[in-house]
Amino acid sequence: MNDTLFSSVPPLLEVLEQECKDIGFTMPSDRHIGALLSNLIASKPGGHFLELGTGIGLSLCWMIEGMDQNSYLYSIDNDPQLIDIAQGHFGKNTRVEIVCQDGGEWIKAYQGPGFDLIFADAWPGKYFDLEETLDLIKPGGFYVIDDMLPADDWPEGHAEKATVLITYLEEHPQFRVTKMSWSTGIIVATKIADAPADS
Ligand SMILES: C[S@@+](CC[C@H](N)C(=O)[O-])C[C@H]1O[C@@H](n2cnc3c(N)ncnc32)[C@H](O)[C@@H]1O
Repeated sequence: MNDTLFSSVPPLLEVLEQECKDIGFTMPSDRHIGALLSNLIASKPGGHFLELGTGIGLSLCWMIEGMDQNSYLYSIDNDPQLIDIAQGHFGKNTRVEIVCQDGGEWIKAYQGPGFDLIFADAWPGKYFDLEETLDLIKPGGFYVIDDMLPADDWPEGHAEKATVLITYLEEHPQFRVTKMSWSTGIIVATKIADAPADS
């Protein structure tokens, strides 16, 4: 198996990958996490999805690829320049709302229905405001993060933060966690439905 070959990629992907290079965006999501997100999202017809950390929309284009016509997605980033580019590509999509706001503020203000999948690709929703974010996931829904394998550009102290996050998720009574040393290091956590009462 060659897992660097992708049988189908979203039509806009190569354009966005080139645009990341052109503008010097150094934090783009890779194709592996994109393909995984697209698959997980395809398992939730009519689903409701959230991305924290839009960038210019690389993972977003994969997420949209997995959505059916009745699904809806919010994507949040606090960088107006990146959001402008993402809006230029996806702004006319009526199933997608791209918001320029601090992710933590957005999470705390959100009052709509729960999410079938949250991809937390920014500090809010991952290294802070975590419990508020996990609260927004429906039973059976997915919490997905990447960049969990040590990298050369991690600042001092980041490895400890990552360990704290992983332990928190693993010990969380409402989540089942799978850790994958693949891509940049991915965690998929599924919110379990309320446990049935003992008979
Ligand atoms: C790892 S990048 C996201 C990559 C993106 N998902 C992609 O597909 O290329 C992290 C993003 O989080 C954004 N960000 C950083 N701090 C944020 C905050 N407090 N609220 C919202 N977005 C934030 C950055 O502007 C950056 O675009």
